[in-house]
Amino acid sequence: MIKKLLILIKIGRALAKSSTLDYFEQLYKPNIFIRSCIKIFGFSSFRKKSLDSKSVGLRLVKALEELGPTFIKLGQFLGTRPDIVGKDLAIELQSLQDDLPPFAMSIAKQSIIDEIGQEKFNEIKNLSEPIAAASIAQVHFADIDEKQFAIKILRPGIEKRFNDELEALMLFASIVESLLPKTRRLKLIEVVHLLKEITTIEMDLRFEGSAASELKKNTDQDPKFKVPNINWDFTSKRILTSEKVDGIKIKDLNRINELKIDKKELAKNIIQNFLRQAVGDGFFHGDMHQGNLFVDKEGNIIPVDFGIMGRLDKDNRKYLAEILYGFIQRDYEKVAEVHFIAGLVPADQSKDSFSQALRSIGEPIFGQSIKNISAGKLLAQLFEITEQFNMATQPQLLLLQKTMVVVEGVARTLDEDANIWEISKPVLEGWLKKEVGPEAKINQAIETTSKVMDRLPELPKMMDKASKALELLAAGSVAYNQEIAKQFELEKLKLKNQQNKIIIFFLIIVISLLIIFN
Ligand SMILES: Nc1ncnc2c1ncn2[C@@H]1O[C@H](COP(=O)(O)OP(=O)(O)O)[C@@H](O)[C@H]1O
Ligand SMILES: [Mg+2]
Repeated sequence: MIKKLLILIKIGRALAKSSTLDYFEQLYKPNIFIRSCIKIFGFSSFRKKSLDSKSVGLRLVKALEELGPTFIKLGQFLGTRPDIVGKDLAIELQSLQDDLPPFAMSIAKQSIIDEIGQEKFNEIKNLSEPIAAASIAQVHFADIDEKQFAIKILRPGIEKRFNDELEALMLFASIVESLLPKTRRLKLIEVVHLLKEITTIEMDLRFEGSAASELKKNTDQDPKFKVPNINWDFTSKRILTSEKVDGIKIKDLNRINELKIDKKELAKNIIQNFLRQAVGDGFFHGDMHQGNLFVDKEGNIIPVDFGIMGRLDKDNRKYLAEILYGFIQRDYEKVAEVHFIAGLVPADQSKDSFSQALRSIGEPIFGQSIKNISAGKLLAQLFEITEQFNMATQPQLLLLQKTMVVVEGVARTLDEDANIWEISKPVLEGWLKKEVGPEAKINQAIETTSKVMDRLPELPKMMDKASKALELLAAGSVAYNQEIAKQFELEKLKLKNQQNKIIIFFLIIVISLLIIFN
C-alpha cells in the first residue's frame, strides 16, 4: 500500500512537472478538493501557469520517458489507440524513444547462467557487449557451436517493476474514474488492464520465440521473406536466442545501393509480404519499422523482434480484403454493403449516407495521382467514419492499420514512386478469389441480399443478425467465446474496482489530513 502510494506520488510529480496535470484540470474541471489532491501528489503549487496546449503531448512524452520502462510502454500503447486518446495525442506519443542505457556485462552473464545453467553457458563463446538496449531487454551477439546468434536478455527485475508500477497505475485509474466520472470515456482501467496483458506476454520471451516460429511456418513458401530460426536450447522465459541475421539494416540505403539490391523490388516485396501475412494468414508482424527489418544480398527481407504480433480472424480478414479491394475499384456501395452485411454498422444507420461518406474519403484520393495514396491512411479515415456510424473499431484492426502506415513508409523510403494499390491488388485479388470465389459470385451474393432486404422492410435486422451468425458459423469463428471471456475479465475488473474504492476512501482520509495540517 505504502509502495503503491510512493509510486503514485512519483507519477504525480512527473506529470505535474510536465504540466500535463494542468491540462487535465482544464479539460475536466475537477472541484477544489480533487485539484488539491493533484497538487499534493505532485508537490506543485496552486499558482496558475500559462498553458500551451499544443505541446502537452510532447511534455507528456518527456514525462513518460523520465518515468521509465512501464510508462514508455504505456505511452507506446496509447500511441496505437487514437480511439482512446484522440488522433493528435496518439501521433505525438508515437515519438516516444525506447532506448535506455544498457545493463552491465556481469549482470547479462549471470542472467544467462540463472536461466540455462553454467554448463550450457560455457558453450556460449565470444559474448559481445550489448548491441542494443531498450526498456524491456537488451541484445548481445555470441557464437554457439561455431554459429553466430543474437541473445536477447530481459532487464534484471523488470517483471517486478512492471508489476508494482502497473498495480499503482490501476489504483490511480480507479481513483480518477471514481472521483471524476467524466473521465470514464478514457477507459483508464481497461487500458491498464490491457497493458498488463500485453507486457506479461512481452516479458516471457518464449512467447516471442513461438511467434517467430509460427511466422516462419506461415511464410515458408512466401517469396523473398525469411524469418530467423530460434535456438530453443538456449531460450527460456528471460532469454531468447535466435540465429544472427546475415544481412544489412533496411535503413542502410548506402549499403543497399553498394550491393545493387533492387530497391523497387524490395519495396514491393515488403508490402506484398505484409499483406500476405495479414490477409492470407491472419497473423502479422505488428512492429515492422526500419529498425526491425534486414535485407540480405539476394534481396530477401528478414524481420526481427516478434514481441508485438497481430491476429485477425477470418471475418476480419475478409472484411479487410473486401474493403481495400472495393476502394481500389471505387465501388463504395459494395464497401458499404460489406459493412452492413457483416453487421459491423448497426442496421438502423442509413446505408446511402454511409456509402456517401465512403465516397467522400475515396474520391478525393483517387482523383489524384494514385501513387501518392496510403492504404494505411485511407483505413485510418475509414475507421474515423465507421465510428461516426456507431461501429467500434477493433484493436487488432487498429494495429493492422498502424502497421500498414509503417510498412508503407518503409516501402516509400526505398521507392518513392511505389504504387501501394497496384502492388496490393494481386495479393488481395488472389486471396478473395481463393476464399470467397469468383468476383461475380461476391457481387451476386451482395445484390441478392440487398434485394431481399429492400422488399422486406421489417426483416433487415433479423436477416442481418442471421447472416452474420451463419457467416460466423461457416468461418468456425470463436469470436463469441472471446467476447464471453472479455466480459468475464471486465466483471473481474469491476470487482477489483470495488476493492480499490475502499483503498480510495482510505486515501481520501489521508489526503484530507494532509490538507488540514499542511
Ligand atoms: N537475430 C538477430 N540478428 C541480428 N541482429 C538482431 C537480431 N535480433 C535482434 N537484433 C538486433 O538487436 C536490436 C534489438 O532487438 P529487438 O528484438 O528489436 O529488441 P526490442 O524489442 O528491444 O526492439 C534489433 O534492432 C537488431 O539490430
Ligand atoms: Mg526492435
